[in-house]
Amino acid sequence: MGVARLDEVRAAFLEDLGQAGKDASAVEAVRVKYAGRRSGLLLDLTAALRDLPKEERRDYGRALNDLKQDIGKCLDEAREASISGAAAPQDMVDISLPGMALTRGAEHPVNLVRRKIEEIFLRMGYDVEAGPEIEDDWHNFEALNIPSDHPARDDHDTFYVTGDRLLRTHTSPVQARVMENRKPPIRIIVPGKVYRRDSDLRHSPMFHQIEGLLVDEGISFGNLKATLETFLHALFSGHGVDVRFRPSYFPFTEPSAEVDITCIFCGGSGCAVCSRSGWIEILGSGMVDPRVFERVGIDSERYTGFAFGLGLDRVAMLMYGIPDLRQLFSGDQRLTRQFA
Ligand code: DAH
Repeated sequence: MGVARLDEVRAAFLEDLGQAGKDASAVEAVRVKYAGRRSGLLLDLTAALRDLPKEERRDYGRALNDLKQDIGKCLDEAREASISGAAAPQDMVDISLPGMALTRGAEHPVNLVRRKIEEIFLRMGYDVEAGPEIEDDWHNFEALNIPSDHPARDDHDTFYVTGDRLLRTHTSPVQARVMENRKPPIRIIVPGKVYRRDSDLRHSPMFHQIEGLLVDEGISFGNLKATLETFLHALFSGHGVDVRFRPSYFPFTEPSAEVDITCIFCGGSGCAVCSRSGWIEILGSGMVDPRVFERVGIDSERYTGFAFGLGLDRVAMLMYGIPDLRQLFSGDQRLTRQFA
């Protein structure tokens, strides 16, 4: 008797449990043998305590408690892992049945375009940045030289969250955020979701833009032109597009230009997609307005830079011939499956 006996019982229990394996009724038999309420071995071991000499009782009692706990735990685990005879694996699985076919996922066309654009700019040494979709008035408008009475605010059908918080209407606020936190040279692109209160064939309340910004000493409009031409030729490689710059206006760039490519559907001769003009407008751009530099704390005497922004969804529609912008966000797998 004594502690040595407990060790024997422990070894025998583990042996029995091992043999029971995952068979639920065998596990139950082991439970009855050791932990059964009326005749389990643990009962005998508890009763034996009384017959022990006083000086052995403490150690024995302690070891017995440990043994009870361990047996309980092992039984619980074995019961959980066990399978009742009626549902043993050989009855559940018919290995001669054909397997379940996994449907193949596809990348969303907007993501395909985004990655294509990221690859082009990463090759040119740009970093990919991100910013918050719930933006404050300062970064979305003020820092970009769009004060509250500026007519350009009317073009941004803004969703306001609270007085000062809004859903960003463009990715341009990330320009301001990065310039506030970093010293030039800065070379970034910023893909992301933007929001405007608008919905029709060509507009969705949520859409995607990609922003670009380069700031350094001695940056000229020539750099802007060369960069955007290189980019657009790479993006539409295979279509042999021409690129043209038209003077335009944005509050945060001066001078500003809108950039067109020759229509990839008619090659420039004029069709329904390009409204018979032969050109498709693809992005907005310009030299960063010195007022923006001053607002974000960059020395406008020392640094110049250019910025640009384009709609990813529009490029995806052009590239893949998708007629209705809203189809991109309908969740209809007939669209995405085509890209698998
Ligand atoms: N943020 C402008 C928009 O959403 C697009 C844009 C135009 C971005 C010119 C630029 C830029 O960075 O230089 O309409």
